[in-house]
Amino acid sequence: MAEYKVTPWEVSGNVDYERLIREFGTQKITDELRQRLVRAAGEDNVMLRRGYFFSHRDLDLVLNDYEKGKGFFLYTGRGPSGPMHIGHLIPLVFTKWLQERFGVNLYIEVTDDEKFLFKDGLGWDDVQRYAAENIRDIAAVGFDPNKTFIFKDSEYVRNVYPLMLKIAKKITFSTARAVFGFTNKANIGEIFYPAYQIVPTFFENKRCLIPNAIDQDPYWRIQRDIAESLGYKKTASIHSKFIPPLQGIQGKMSASMPESAIWLTDDEKTVKKKIMKYAFSGGQPTVEEHRKKGGNPDIDVSFQWLKIMFEPDDSRLKKIEDDYRNGALLSGELKQILTDKINDFLAKHQERKEKCDVEMFMRNGKLAQKMWESYY
Ligand code: TYM
Repeated sequence: MAEYKVTPWEVSGNVDYERLIREFGTQKITDELRQRLVRAAGEDNVMLRRGYFFSHRDLDLVLNDYEKGKGFFLYTGRGPSGPMHIGHLIPLVFTKWLQERFGVNLYIEVTDDEKFLFKDGLGWDDVQRYAAENIRDIAAVGFDPNKTFIFKDSEYVRNVYPLMLKIAKKITFSTARAVFGFTNKANIGEIFYPAYQIVPTFFENKRCLIPNAIDQDPYWRIQRDIAESLGYKKTASIHSKFIPPLQGIQGKMSASMPESAIWLTDDEKTVKKKIMKYAFSGGQPTVEEHRKKGGNPDIDVSFQWLKIMFEPDDSRLKKIEDDYRNGALLSGELKQILTDKINDFLAKHQERKEKCDVEMFMRNGKLAQKMWESYY
């Protein structure tokens, strides 16, 4: 069996997502639950339909609460360790869909503290620069400015420090070590940090739903152990797989391998060059052979990216898949389809980024104002 590793700080190898559900103790999103979510949302979603969001904790309870009129709220986040790539945007695009469909509040934590503490060689000024840039990218996704609060940990801390301490007091070092694998080399800031990532799950006395890739689940496991003893609800969570790096379907697109990722700032030429040069192909070495034997979309990164979300039309995706398998579609042509989709996506993102009003999300919107007046 291929080995793999999934922690909040490292994802490598060929991840067996079914096995991960068992290891992490999460639940699979069954067809029935997916249909229930889609019914409540009033609209289907490509990432749900294609199984990209595949696992959850208590999503059924969120839907119960919603149907009973108790509501829920959304929470997600980003660690500003560098510029953002397409993989970081995907949970946010899904979160936007949830917010739009359910009309709920959304909290987005930008963890400058976490990245400063965990990344050797990353200085405070660098993290601040990345945080400012990342916040613009997050705001550009197009959330509801009156129902979304984007906050940076080091700035918002005075409003939440007492709550953070109450959380920290509930978590022993031995739990943190077992869940996160801390060694004697860990600095003491790293050991305290998980308390802050739990804080936003308590922002409202409703159930919290966290859209994220499954690497973040260890935090929610701890949250669920301590929430009720502090008078709050266990958080719910909905987990995605990882968007693979260009070089092959193993692991995840990662900031530490710049050529493995498409960055949100990449221009058209760079996107084309990267995809043509690096995107792992399931095609045959020569055109003749490809026409005869066909390609394998299951290991082809371009096809996998189209499947995750860049080609939402099922019948068009099916045609691409069939044509590729039977050799009618060449690797270069498949790569061009993806290149055009990504360039279109990035152009729209850049345009929204130019126009968006970050201060609405951080200070001036209705929810942001309320949050700056709240002490936890
Ligand atoms: P970060 O910045 O590593 O990642 C931000 C979000 O992107 C997801 N992600 C990916 N999703 C798909 N494919 C990939 N290749 C990929 N790489 C990363 C992550 O799972 C995450 O959802 N500690 C967090 C910040 C945080 C947070 C949260 C995240 C604070 N509170 C609540 C999610 C929910 C971090 O460093 O994320």
